[in-house]
Amino acid sequence: MSSLLFQPTHIAGVQLKNRFVRSATAEAMATDDGRPTQALKDLYARLAEGEVGLIITSGAMIEAWPISPATLGLRSPLAMHDDAYIPLWQDAIEAVHQAGANIAMQIGYLGRQDIPALRGGPPLAPSAVAIASTGVEPREMTQTEIDEVVEKFAQASRRVKAAGFDAVQYHGAHGNIITNFMSPFTNRRQDAYGGSLANRARFSVEIIKRARELVGAAYPIIIKLSFSDFVEGGLTVEDAVRMAAILAEAGLDCIEVSGGTLSETPERISRKNIKKEDQEAYFQPFAKALKDQVGIPVMLVGGLRTPRVMEKAIQDGAADMVSLSRPFIREPQLIKRWQSGDPQKATCVSCNQCFENWVHTPIRCFMDEPLGKD
Ligand SMILES: Cc1cc2nc3c(=O)[nH]c(=O)nc-3n(C[C@H](O)[C@H](O)[C@H](O)COP(=O)(O)O)c2cc1C
Repeated sequence: MSSLLFQPTHIAGVQLKNRFVRSATAEAMATDDGRPTQALKDLYARLAEGEVGLIITSGAMIEAWPISPATLGLRSPLAMHDDAYIPLWQDAIEAVHQAGANIAMQIGYLGRQDIPALRGGPPLAPSAVAIASTGVEPREMTQTEIDEVVEKFAQASRRVKAAGFDAVQYHGAHGNIITNFMSPFTNRRQDAYGGSLANRARFSVEIIKRARELVGAAYPIIIKLSFSDFVEGGLTVEDAVRMAAILAEAGLDCIEVSGGTLSETPERISRKNIKKEDQEAYFQPFAKALKDQVGIPVMLVGGLRTPRVMEKAIQDGAADMVSLSRPFIREPQLIKRWQSGDPQKATCVSCNQCFENWVHTPIRCFMDEPLGKD
């Protein structure tokens, strides 16, 4: 097994034992008010024992919905919108550390993709651009509302650090609020937050700068970004790379490279039926374009299944770390298997039943179950 993938690395001074990251994956294993269950803590411990270097939790909410997702039969995401959630993580984080791994918490704000029935009103977004598939039209945010969401990201970052996580990651990919501001398709504003690259990056810059005041200079801040939303008039990789450089300048420590949006191009995020090596690493060109321009560490996610492909991504200067989601649903101990000398690729076949069921049932691999079950 390659030595490069098992070489230690670091993000802003936090040492990671190898290059393998568990990408944020909505486990649907929180309580109805967003607390971690024992089953979720056990999963993180299992991933850590399975030799994942850095585990990134599923996206935690920075603002509570007034209406419980349970009323719609949906599983709740994790929550980090209140100080009451800080002490809930100590034992889970200790178990991960004891196994020699690190853990970051992903936090996010749904923005345009929010659920009106849970908000009790329209989603908030930079501009009122409706989602064609659902007909949901968000409301354009006021300056006060922008300031409030920036502050909520920063306060949640403070809580993530206080809870003992090794880093915070902002969910800036897949059509959440950060993507909404970056993409000219969803951001039609005429004020200081729309138009030029600097203006479309401003919302994220404000979050990073305010969070830095609360978490200090040394605490790692990571962003997962979509480098294209794959829609006409949307975000281009050239623009995304230039905005990423602005975020790095503002104090960002690491970027995870993804693409697509749940609202317009969900099939681009977790691509189906990855069978051959040339179908893997489907965001590698984006990551390479980023690494050529920006000096901070880069994680590559999307379709990585074969150690040789991952090794090459690092060798070719497209990434410093490789990040996987679906393979770990099937094989939480995958890295341990590779480490022990079995180089066979991940057995996940990207059937995407996990992706299609994630808000309804705790994640599991459906591969060995008859189709249509659940
Ligand atoms: C069930 C499921 C839930 C996911 N939840 C999240 C999430 O909460 N946050 C996030 O940034 N990405 C999420 N993703 C996307 C993955 O992190 C990853 O970017 C994508 O699946 C591609 O990587 P893969 O081919 O290794 O699965 C999810 C994916 C799946 C399959």
